[in-house]
Amino acid sequence: MISSTENPVTHTVSHSELPILDFHAIEFYVGNAKQAAYFYNKLFGFDIVAYRGPETGYREAASYLLKQNNIRLVLTAGLSPEHPAVQHVERHGDGIKDISFLVSNLEEAYHLAIQRGALEEQQPTILTDESGRIAKATIGAYGDTTHTFVQMDEYKGPYEPGFKPHHVPSPSTGLKRIDHIVANVEPGKMEAWVEFYQRVFGFYTLCHFDEKDISTQYSALVSKVMANRSGSIKLPINEPAPGLGKSQIQEYLDYYHAPGVQHIAIATEDILSTVSALRQNGLELMTVPDAYYQDLAKRVGTIQESMSELAKLGILVDRDEEGYLLQIFTQPVQDRPTVFFEIIQRQGSGGFGKGNFKALFEAIERDQQRRGNL
Ligand code: FE2
Repeated sequence: MISSTENPVTHTVSHSELPILDFHAIEFYVGNAKQAAYFYNKLFGFDIVAYRGPETGYREAASYLLKQNNIRLVLTAGLSPEHPAVQHVERHGDGIKDISFLVSNLEEAYHLAIQRGALEEQQPTILTDESGRIAKATIGAYGDTTHTFVQMDEYKGPYEPGFKPHHVPSPSTGLKRIDHIVANVEPGKMEAWVEFYQRVFGFYTLCHFDEKDISTQYSALVSKVMANRSGSIKLPINEPAPGLGKSQIQEYLDYYHAPGVQHIAIATEDILSTVSALRQNGLELMTVPDAYYQDLAKRVGTIQESMSELAKLGILVDRDEEGYLLQIFTQPVQDRPTVFFEIIQRQGSGGFGKGNFKALFEAIERDQQRRGNL
């Protein structure tokens, strides 16, 4: 039995929060980092700013650091069949290996996490070069995904020791920072991961959605959003719920062959110009049925943006007690129907677009049907 949204969120024993300041970077393991770097450079407007690989004296893998405002993506490809990135890609396709967090105290963050039962992946390590030093350590999360804690200690280089400047600029599309990162986990596993982020990270459940909020004729899911108190980190966790057809979460699990990151939501302060630029660059975004805009004004009331501009660009709108938000989703960014991006602009609303779930899922299902997976 799944709890309904009318039920208050139950808080178990509260743990002190790890000293996490913000998201640091997202590392993808990909089949071909050189080509993937140009995908994010040309379509999303990320600058390629640093590189580590054989040319810089690192023989195992090639990694590119991409940056736009406060967002850092690292794309890594292994250079031999034994490299973990190659094995990761073989099983999952291109996908997200690590979400790293900036911490004020690495030793404290890591040792608290281990004491509270997190799996040790990499003990605290100090890396130094002419730009200074950083300290980092890694723990396990859902599936093969990991979390790295990074303490920067006034490090002046582009990312971390070993990376050398490699400059391929791109006109910015106005992407500012990571808003939230969503995990898909197996049926029945959501509560265990909610408990993990409560116990290990000291996070709390910001809100939750059940099948009544998120269901269509075919598929349903349940979701809880884990967050830190400052609001800098929001990590929703989805699991599939039974529906008439295959849940889009189940489709993800079937292709990723494990739980993993479903989407990365990136905040912009001007979604109209961001989405125009992304569309102009040729990024494939989800299309929205025309019907969605017919009763939109009735549903969300007065907003600053022109409804016809929003409809032209396919941007969704949702309102809650605090304000409204504008959002749009990309198509999957690799061949498997797994990871995608969301672009979001918050106009007062701290929500996740609950009112859009149905319209959005119907759009996803049309694509799922085209792939023969519904
Ligand atoms: Fe989202």
